[in-house]
Amino acid sequence: MDIVLSGIRSTGKLHLGNYYGALRNFIRMQEENKCYFFIADIHSLTTHPDPKMLHENVKNVLVDYLAAGIDPEKSVIYVQSDLPETAELYLYLNMHAYLGELSKTSSFKEKARKQPENVNAGLLTYPTLMAADILIHRADKVPVGKDQEQHLEMTRRFARRFNHFYGVEYFKEPVAYNFGEELVKIPGLDGSGKMGKSEGNAIYLGESPKEIEKKVKKALTDAGPTAPNSIKPDYIENLFTLLRVVSAPEVVQHYELQWNTCTIRYGDLKKQLAEDIIKVTTPIRERIQEIEKNDAYLRKVTLEGAERARESARKTIEGVREIVGFKPF
Ligand code: TRP
Repeated sequence: MDIVLSGIRSTGKLHLGNYYGALRNFIRMQEENKCYFFIADIHSLTTHPDPKMLHENVKNVLVDYLAAGIDPEKSVIYVQSDLPETAELYLYLNMHAYLGELSKTSSFKEKARKQPENVNAGLLTYPTLMAADILIHRADKVPVGKDQEQHLEMTRRFARRFNHFYGVEYFKEPVAYNFGEELVKIPGLDGSGKMGKSEGNAIYLGESPKEIEKKVKKALTDAGPTAPNSIKPDYIENLFTLLRVVSAPEVVQHYELQWNTCTIRYGDLKKQLAEDIIKVTTPIRERIQEIEKNDAYLRKVTLEGAERARESARKTIEGVREIVGFKPF
């Protein structure tokens, strides 16, 4: 079986974008692969170093993973900080990662722009930590979105460089994997870009129907098209993108036709959209409410996950230590 690995940073609750961009594929993958899904809490420290919130943030992602259908019987679910082998591998990989390439990484440049008061070395070496996450289990396939492709490319480069430097064939070069499908980019509700945990434009998986209705109702619209078959402005196209994801094809067709004939009533569209989002999220929300109360279950899942992750990580790190040249006396 191929080894699949992916993780999500614990910086907030998961939303529809995480579900359609990641979780839904994770769930399908666990049937035919050996999967590791982890919660990237060490990575969260690059931007969210808040001891009061950290545990709660990890819990949110863990509960959302389980509620969305990641099955601890099929997949290994673990918390990144429970696997110190990752941090050790990160240290070794950093000895072969260069300032030039790290400082040129898009995510680094973006974060450095967003938080100029805190351009820490963790941000700079974010790609080596992510490479360590992947290489510690010698994963074959990594389901990631477009925004992570550069990081994955760097992981391949770090793997290649390690092998080449030490004259070994130790690490495989992992590939991006999403069933060969284009991932839909889920837009936010504010008419701007992508739905994001910290952008204030998201619908969370655990959100109440009332809140979903309220948020959808508030989405930006206009007075409607003035000519038949007009091109939709971004904020209207976004509503249609969401509709295409959660609603039946006939429903989408119905509103497309209304748009094209200038008879569209946004109130109806939004009502339908909210209803269909609620249909998708309700079973997940109900499971979230159940699971979040069950600390004993969460403890069991993370303890067993850490143990199983460690089995694989220990093997990798022992090999690495030997290759690097550490020897006992
Ligand atoms: N960088 C990823 C993100 O921000 C999270 C992540 C950390 C990850 N380590 C990973 C994803 C390893 C896939 C594999 O979404």
